[in-house]
Amino acid sequence: MAQFLEWSEEISVGVEEIDEQHKVLVKLINDLNDAMQERRSNEIVKEILNKLAEYTRIHFAVEESLMRILGYPGYEAHKAQHQELIYSVLDLAQKVEGGKSGISFELMHFLKSWLTKHIMESDKDYSDHFLKAGIQSKLKKRSWIFGLWE
Ligand SMILES: [Fe+2]
Ligand SMILES: [Fe+2]
Repeated sequence: MAQFLEWSEEISVGVEEIDEQHKVLVKLINDLNDAMQERRSNEIVKEILNKLAEYTRIHFAVEESLMRILGYPGYEAHKAQHQELIYSVLDLAQKVEGGKSGISFELMHFLKSWLTKHIMESDKDYSDHFLKAGIQSKLKKRSWIFGLWE
């Protein structure tokens, strides 16, 4: 069966390390969707949501440090987008925690379209800047950045 959200070359930003991290986010969103479809317990949903929130924070921190190091001019605006999503996810996790809400189709679609749009517009914009700065050769797959998560 097709996944809820498929990673494809279309959403590649051209920097392998960042693509690898986006694939992890895609997988966690799919896990969350599966848990909702299969009507898994609140405990399981909470666990996936926490993983998603944690990994999202790590991923955003990595992007933001690279943006600062490489002098990306859109840093502040990009960071503000990240912050907004973090707040939405935390708010949601709290609602699930308090039993006030479950995971809905609307929410899954919000996450899916947020991620896709953010990658295709905002992340691609900084990655163009990174690639011009010649970062690709410096970022090897499974570098220290990945070590933060595993
Ligand atoms: Fe990203
Ligand atoms: Fe981003």
